[in-house]
Amino acid sequence: MNKPKLVAGNWKMNTTLSEGIALLESIIKGVKLLKTNTKIAIAPPFTHLSEFRKALKNTDVCLAAQNVSDKLQGAFTGEISALMLKELGVKKAIVAHSERRQYFGETNESALFKIKTLLKQDIHPIYCVGELLEDRERERHFEVVEEQITTVLYQLTEEKLPKLTIAYEPVWAIGTGKTATPEQANEMHEFIRAVIAKRFGEDLAGQVMILYGGSVNSGNASALMAQPQIDGALVGGASLKAEEFIAIIKAAG
Ligand code: PGA
Repeated sequence: MNKPKLVAGNWKMNTTLSEGIALLESIIKGVKLLKTNTKIAIAPPFTHLSEFRKALKNTDVCLAAQNVSDKLQGAFTGEISALMLKELGVKKAIVAHSERRQYFGETNESALFKIKTLLKQDIHPIYCVGELLEDRERERHFEVVEEQITTVLYQLTEEKLPKLTIAYEPVWAIGTGKTATPEQANEMHEFIRAVIAKRFGEDLAGQVMILYGGSVNSGNASALMAQPQIDGALVGGASLKAEEFIAIIKAAG
């Protein structure tokens, strides 16, 4: 499986537009100096998308969104739809990040609707799954992730599958400085692939990109990216520092 890896930066609710542009410029500069096969995506706040689209023209960095509404248009105050994202040149969107699940009540069910609206607009979803610390302590982590996968992916037709990416992000590793060991991450990625294969076959399961997320940084990226089942990283905190982010892209190959 030698597909190019993907490193996506999830900026979360960080940077004003002017701060964001400065950071993006440093990242673009760093990426230009790199020789890499790795695909790169940046998911800034919604307010940055329009300006970032211009800045990313003629670069290999892809524009991503952090969230999307499950509705296409209408009286849904405060929501942003896939149609709106598409017009801004957004190519990928994160769905059901654990912070969205935890603070904004998102569920596997809403994730499925979001994924469907994105796919209809040809935007590539990055669907986040992962267990809580208590799930892992009770050895329920496989069960929880299996449910997150089956309730959503099993509802899609097989031609949709290569058009989405999964991000395995154990909740206890997000923003905590605690990373899953490369072996723990690889084991879960292998499990996710097996769950997908059960329904869609080995071939398709092998094509799906599965990223690891949770305190990825320049120090641990190489060991994580060397794991056979890990296709890249979804990076939060470390994507807000150009040097760190570039080092992670480098580690991905
Ligand atoms: P982190 O966040 O890298 O800061 O742990 C990852 C994520 O939430 O996607």
